[in-house]
Amino acid sequence: MIGIDIEKISRFENWTDEGFKRIFTEKELEYACEFENKIEHLCGFYCVKESFVKALDDTGIHFSQIEVLHNENGKPYINNTRYIQSILKEHFKSRVEISISHCKDYATAVVLVE
Ligand SMILES: CC(C)(COP(=O)(O)OP(=O)(O)OC[C@H]1O[C@@H](n2cnc3c(N)ncnc32)[C@H](O)[C@@H]1OP(=O)(O)O)[C@@H](O)C(=O)NCCC(=O)NCCS
Repeated sequence: MIGIDIEKISRFENWTDEGFKRIFTEKELEYACEFENKIEHLCGFYCVKESFVKALDDTGIHFSQIEVLHNENGKPYINNTRYIQSILKEHFKSRVEISISHCKDYATAVVLVE
């Protein structure tokens, strides 16, 4: 199953710290803050969260519980928390692959659930 999302970076321009903290995990915020274009990265993570919901066709999933991390090469993945494991189990799935891309104006992500 597959999900895709694209978002305008400007959507996040006026968000408060509280707003970010409601959607993004501490590690996601820490990662993005390392970059000058912080909201480009966060917008990409947001696209992953939307795409994951689309791939599973499950609008009951909490965005704040989907955490995007990176391996040593910078490749992103969804943290395999108990919550994610339980969601995947519920949908009889076991593996998730994600890909993110962003530029000045837009971010996009694709999520594949097997
Ligand atoms: C990793 C790479 C593919 C990213 O591409 P890009 O066009 O610079 O940037 P994009 O906006 O499309 O993608 C950025 C996202 O790629 C993802 N990414 C980074 N490293 C990755 C990797 N090793 N594998 C898969 N995805 C990766 C990340 O999710 C990143 O976004 P994030 O940091 O916000 O999570 C690119 O920088 C790279 O290293 N290419 C290697 C080949 C190369 O250097 N060629 C140069 C030839 S001149």
